[in-house]
Amino acid sequence: MGRASLLLIALLVVAVNSTPDCVSVTFKDGIVCACNATSCDDIEPLGVIAPGTAVVYRTNVQGARMERVTVKQTPQAEGFIVELDPSTVYQEVIGFGGAFTDSTGINLQSLPKEGKDMLMRQYFGPTGTEYTIGRVPIASTDFSLTQYSYDDVDGDFELKNFRLPQDDFDYKIPYIQQALDLQKNSGGLRLFASPWSPPAWMKTNGEMRGGGELKGEPNGPYFSTWAKYFVKFFDAYLSYGIPFWAVTPQNEPTTGSDPNYVWQTLFFDAQTETAFVKNHLGPALKSSNSSNEIVIIGMDDNRFMLPGWADVMFKDPEVSNYVAGIGVHWYEDEIYPVSALTHTHEKHPTKFLLATEACNGWLTVQGKGPRLGYFFRAETYAHSIITDMNNWVGGWTDWNLALDMQGGPTWALNYVDAPIIVDGKEFYKQPMYYGLAHFSKFLKPGAHRVAVSLPTLPKEVFVLGAVMVDGRRYVTLLNKDNSEDVTISIKEKGIDSVFTTVSLPSHSIVTVIWNKY
Ligand SMILES: *[C@@H]1O[C@H](CO)[C@@H](O)[C@H](O)[C@H]1NC(C)=O
Ligand SMILES: *[C@@H]1O[C@H](CO)[C@@H](O)[C@H](O)[C@H]1NC(C)=O
Repeated sequence: MGRASLLLIALLVVAVNSTPDCVSVTFKDGIVCACNATSCDDIEPLGVIAPGTAVVYRTNVQGARMERVTVKQTPQAEGFIVELDPSTVYQEVIGFGGAFTDSTGINLQSLPKEGKDMLMRQYFGPTGTEYTIGRVPIASTDFSLTQYSYDDVDGDFELKNFRLPQDDFDYKIPYIQQALDLQKNSGGLRLFASPWSPPAWMKTNGEMRGGGELKGEPNGPYFSTWAKYFVKFFDAYLSYGIPFWAVTPQNEPTTGSDPNYVWQTLFFDAQTETAFVKNHLGPALKSSNSSNEIVIIGMDDNRFMLPGWADVMFKDPEVSNYVAGIGVHWYEDEIYPVSALTHTHEKHPTKFLLATEACNGWLTVQGKGPRLGYFFRAETYAHSIITDMNNWVGGWTDWNLALDMQGGPTWALNYVDAPIIVDGKEFYKQPMYYGLAHFSKFLKPGAHRVAVSLPTLPKEVFVLGAVMVDGRRYVTLLNKDNSEDVTISIKEKGIDSVFTTVSLPSHSIVTVIWNKY
């Protein structure tokens, strides 16, 4: 883009950010926004959009972080034209969020009271990302201090010794309650739960970690007890004011086939998970007063199992009644094409698809653990959300809400990255935090993806179009390209001579929102 058009766009900016700005701190890989108990940058609310203007939010490698500007619409287009078609409506938005792991709670706990509140507001408050989904592990995961279950008494088929340990009261329950409270006036927070492993005594390998299956016959006591354990968990959480929307029968069930798997797991394939839902989990939830409205999300594993896993689950009408959708993780997305999601949707159009876990820094080659300020990781989040949603995924769930400087704690030493990293009395908002905010802030449950018609865009430019719950029009653009700055004019189908022109520099994310005519 030329100097003249840069100047033009600069002149069209008629309002500037008036909320607290990012206090940027530079690390080797880029900048983060530093926050403490008294100071943190806000995302300026969308507010009212003046006639003849659009609101633009910009995040880029140069340091803009959800920077809100107002842009005048013009009768002429410039650069590439992207046309939003609000009359071609695709899937409904389920929501966006992250996981209340023990490690998240441990990092929150390390902050002074006002620091904790400040961090919680970053995700669930009106000037934060406004998450509408939370994932809650049932007992321990690799992001816990130890491996623990809720009933470690061998042979306790009645679950007489089922109890929540102190970890739930210290690291999960108070923060989930606070998140529910922060979100109660802006659409609410929907929670889903997932177990990593049953108690060791229920597993063939006798340990929570490592591959193994439930002991005994598929209709035997281990299977029925394991289903009862879910209901006990929901009863217990409900008694602390925490209701659930959904549950996955098992986190990443395919990992349970590896006897040396490093952390907690349990093996199911599509057939055995389907049988467990049909004979045990589905009926146990339905017959419980606290859990009978909880829906099941099948699979909760990488997309290479699709569409086959969904075909097996939805073939049996009884199972299909219990299972509302399929959960997908993003690990190995580079290897398996995103079209597997569209194929799954086409074969099972009444079922939703939800991204149930993702994180960066899980592979040694990427640099294991946090990379502070690394913009590339914001791009991978935005790219995953855009391509998933363009293939019928209704929402996207991040992994740990907050980790420490090493990417833990994790008893399994599985250090990874997170959008918020806690460092002593401060915390840092990574570029990923803003990458997610471009979507979570505006696409609330009940919004819909709609069609966008595109010219041949430069390689590495990605677009998502939606209509927000209040009818306003939404487009997010991502430019992952290493060199090329792009100018894009956005218009709405059927409305001629009204364009919003934005510059999309290399390594940037831009959201454009305008009123319904
Ligand atoms: C919090 O951060 C702000 C902005 O960097 C700084 O001015 C203030 O002194 C910090 N407060 C504490 C208690 O460290
Ligand atoms: C469930 O609710 C019904 C109707 O209120 C009641 O009769 C029944 O005892 C309850 N069951 C349990 C396990 O609480």
